[in-house]
Amino acid sequence: MTGGQEHWNEVYGARSEDALTWFEATPSLSLELVRTHLAPGDAFIDIGAGASRLVDVLLDEGFGPLTVLDISASALAVSNQRLSPRDDEVVWIEADITNWQPDRSYSVWHDRAVFHFLTDAEDRAAYARTMLEALRPGGIAIIATFADDGPEKCSGLPVVRYAPETLAQEFDRQLPGKLETMDARRHVHITPKGNRQNFQYSVFRKKET
Ligand SMILES: C[S@@+](CC[C@H](N)C(=O)[O-])C[C@H]1O[C@@H](n2cnc3c(N)ncnc32)[C@H](O)[C@@H]1O
Repeated sequence: MTGGQEHWNEVYGARSEDALTWFEATPSLSLELVRTHLAPGDAFIDIGAGASRLVDVLLDEGFGPLTVLDISASALAVSNQRLSPRDDEVVWIEADITNWQPDRSYSVWHDRAVFHFLTDAEDRAAYARTMLEALRPGGIAIIATFADDGPEKCSGLPVVRYAPETLAQEFDRQLPGKLETMDARRHVHITPKGNRQNFQYSVFRKKET
């Protein structure tokens, strides 16, 4: 369980995007990792993108096709309106990642601060299965979570914190032998109020066979 749609619609309805603790004016590390692994013309999806500006920059830089998925219609509306009239260049999906069924494959899957809300092992298993199904062979998953020394809660909800090693172990438990680790970084996010939050960013590749 990751809070549910009602929780997230309230969160995005109550404050402007730049007041949310996870706000990034420029999602620099995500951009660096996506640019490294995404070629123009390759399909990209941002899981639990919220109102993130990642998609704006990728659109500016000529990447696409781009898909944005979030459980919250309110979050999607913020991005959608910000991008207007270019919003029709993005595929918008309102869905819960733990029960979503992809209908195409993606070269790069990006998730910043969503997987860590999955405190239930069954939800993590569902997420991992969906991610594997959605990635093309050789496709890349970029997963950013609170680090093992990061906050214990986000948006009032408990999270599971990971070091790159424990995240890799978690995916190896869920998807034995299917992924290889390509990169792992620690990152300090500064919230709009100036607080520090330790993140880890891991990059996995879906093996060809
Ligand atoms: C902490 S925010 C991060 C937003 C965005 N990734 C960013 O970096 O700005 C978590 C996001 O995950 C979304 N979310 C939570 N649970 C979800 C689920 N089960 N399926 C899809 N999205 C979910 C929320 O609506 C919210 O936008």
